[in-house]
Amino acid sequence: MAPISNGYQTGFGNEFASEAIAGTLPLGRNSPQRVAHGLYAEQLTGTAFTAPRHANRRSWLYRIRPAAMHGPFSPYAQPAFHNDFGDGAVSPEQLRWNPLPLPQAPTDFLDGLYTMAGNGGPAAQTGVGIHLYAANRDMRGRYFYDADGELLIVPQQGRLHIATELGVIEVEPQQIAVIPRGVRFAVSLPDGASRGYVCENFGALLRLPDLGPIGSNGLANPRDFETPNAAYEDLEGEFELIAKFQGHLWRAPIGHSPLDVVGWHGNYAPYRYDLRHFNTIGSISFDHPDPSIFLVLHSPSDTAGTSNMDFVIFPPRWLVAQDTFRPPWFHRNIASEFMGLIHGVYDAKADGFAPGGASLHNCMTGHGPDAQTFEKASAADLSQPHVIVDTMAFMFETRAVIRPTRQAFEAAHRQRDYQACWAGLRKHFVAG
Ligand SMILES: [Fe+2]
Repeated sequence: MAPISNGYQTGFGNEFASEAIAGTLPLGRNSPQRVAHGLYAEQLTGTAFTAPRHANRRSWLYRIRPAAMHGPFSPYAQPAFHNDFGDGAVSPEQLRWNPLPLPQAPTDFLDGLYTMAGNGGPAAQTGVGIHLYAANRDMRGRYFYDADGELLIVPQQGRLHIATELGVIEVEPQQIAVIPRGVRFAVSLPDGASRGYVCENFGALLRLPDLGPIGSNGLANPRDFETPNAAYEDLEGEFELIAKFQGHLWRAPIGHSPLDVVGWHGNYAPYRYDLRHFNTIGSISFDHPDPSIFLVLHSPSDTAGTSNMDFVIFPPRWLVAQDTFRPPWFHRNIASEFMGLIHGVYDAKADGFAPGGASLHNCMTGHGPDAQTFEKASAADLSQPHVIVDTMAFMFETRAVIRPTRQAFEAAHRQRDYQACWAGLRKHFVAG
């Protein structure tokens, strides 16, 4: 049985501190000669040792056994989960998928991961892997860590109970969880069959965007991010440690639970965020700001202002702009956009984009509202504000082209007729 939640600490990138047994954390030093309660001290570092202070992330873990203790690794076959983004056609066509079918056979979170697309790779520490998961049973007797990237998990159906080395994170649809690179965890499914999206970020750690003229509040506020308090399990037995390393999975026997951290402090830690707490900002006169106004978290690249990955949401909001086509407009971007729908209806599409579904519009591929949405919005009464409720869509937007995997491109649940949604756009042109 995985440890139960021990509550949360709030803030983003703080110097957190938590101990499940009082008196665990050493005072005034990180690695004393002897740690209280006979624990081992271990540092987990997520950025270069010499990264600037504002970007430097590391935590000190005080644990029953060090992470070095496990048996030898051998390959583990889970062929649907990988980083082979170049193995299929990379078409400029607009692509869309129905939801990934839920599994029939018993399948845990790890075996339920299904790679849709991606770019870059773990060797270069740039780019992303974009995955779905569909699972129906708890991870039993095994623990996972991803050395290739941090995991941004976006549940769409069913809650996740994520027991990590640093504590327990519970998330439901419309919440997200971020598990840092290297942190070991196990997922159980309190609601049974569950489904969602995962962005595996090979690049710089996700961070909150600067707000510029918006000021000191707005978009995702730091106080709404929650990092778990320490919670540990002291278990011995025949368990399995699964690692993702350089795009492939490896398994090692381990004689104890690696979730044995009794206390920790630092700023490299998992967290959750409720997307319904996003303070949505938009136009109150005319036109729209660019969709970057909906940015929750981003992974910067080496080029100023150009993200490795942006995590953007389209939440409930008021549309009040006058003399304006209010839904998202037709557009083409240098960035590439992978979208998913967590809840409800997305306001740029009348149908065909179901919760759990996905779409991919790559660099310079034209897209926008479907014919039905265009006609409706073109005739809408703009003297009245319009409120969009019951919706939560998101986008993983990347600097590099998003390459679909062969399994995603050839999948039975890909909509071969997606382009038909624009076929009904009528010619309205009248010269003179
Ligand atoms: Fe777009």
